[in-house]
Amino acid sequence: MEKASIDWNEAWKEQRSKRSLIKRDVRFWNEKAKYFTKDPWESNYGRDFLKIMEPRRCWSVLDIACGTGTIALPLARYVRRVTAVDFSPKMLEALAGQCRIHGIENITAVNASWEDNWRSKGIEKHDVVVASRCLIVEDLQAAITKLNAFAKERVYTSTIVGDGPHDRRVYEAVGRKLVPGPDYIYNYNLLHQMGIYANITFITDQRQESFRDHDDALDHFSRDLKKLTIDEKIRLKQYLDEHLLCKNGKWCLDYKKSTRWAVIWWERT
Ligand SMILES: C[S@@+](CC[C@H](N)C(=O)[O-])C[C@H]1O[C@@H](n2cnc3c(N)ncnc32)[C@H](O)[C@@H]1O
Repeated sequence: MEKASIDWNEAWKEQRSKRSLIKRDVRFWNEKAKYFTKDPWESNYGRDFLKIMEPRRCWSVLDIACGTGTIALPLARYVRRVTAVDFSPKMLEALAGQCRIHGIENITAVNASWEDNWRSKGIEKHDVVVASRCLIVEDLQAAITKLNAFAKERVYTSTIVGDGPHDRRVYEAVGRKLVPGPDYIYNYNLLHQMGIYANITFITDQRQESFRDHDDALDHFSRDLKKLTIDEKIRLKQYLDEHLLCKNGKWCLDYKKSTRWAVIWWERT
């Protein structure tokens, strides 16, 4: 097949439709927010992302689908101001809590979704737009066009590499096959097709997920797999019983699972 004959936006949509992951709505992310809360200051991902950005004091930054602030919180110390957008009120509450604790006053939170009309939510153009680990969209081309429209200087995105944060071993242990969503190569090729010749750098997230106890781990993986049958739940429990280890009072899997992310960024032309 000729390179130019692939429509990368259609390929993205097709791969998304095949993925084995559940649809993640506001309720899912609200629930997830309590696991994110401790993240922002601990994550090597956030630090590495900032190194790639080389933030400038004069920048205003729009952080789309900011979560609890993995990027927004550390970034706020280096730029003029950050507008942090997310559709999950619980994510924004956790972000506000961290701002209070750390005395950060230059982050404005906006409750909005990818699909909303951002202008009607009072969002203006910013010097830089960030969309980190959140290209959870059906139409990637429309999302990129939207990010571009709100950026005066640069856009930074990040996308999964391969399986992303999902653990293939857990899927196989319960008897399911993991079909991941489209990874960075779709994004990169689509950008090329759109005439955007982007930069790319990879980050390896070293963080190891930890749990209060076996039940907490079971809850975590059950939520990700969703709608487990009784047999699947038994197999998941057996897998966790075999692989959970207690380290310093916290439970984690007895193997390292690192996640790679592709940070793809470009200058606005
Ligand atoms: C994996 S987290 C990434 C958070 C943060 N950007 C980071 O890198 O840590 C995905 C975030 O996207 C948000 N999100 C998911 N779908 C969204 C949508 N349609 N509109 C706005 N935010 C969305 C979730 O609430 C969640 O905070």
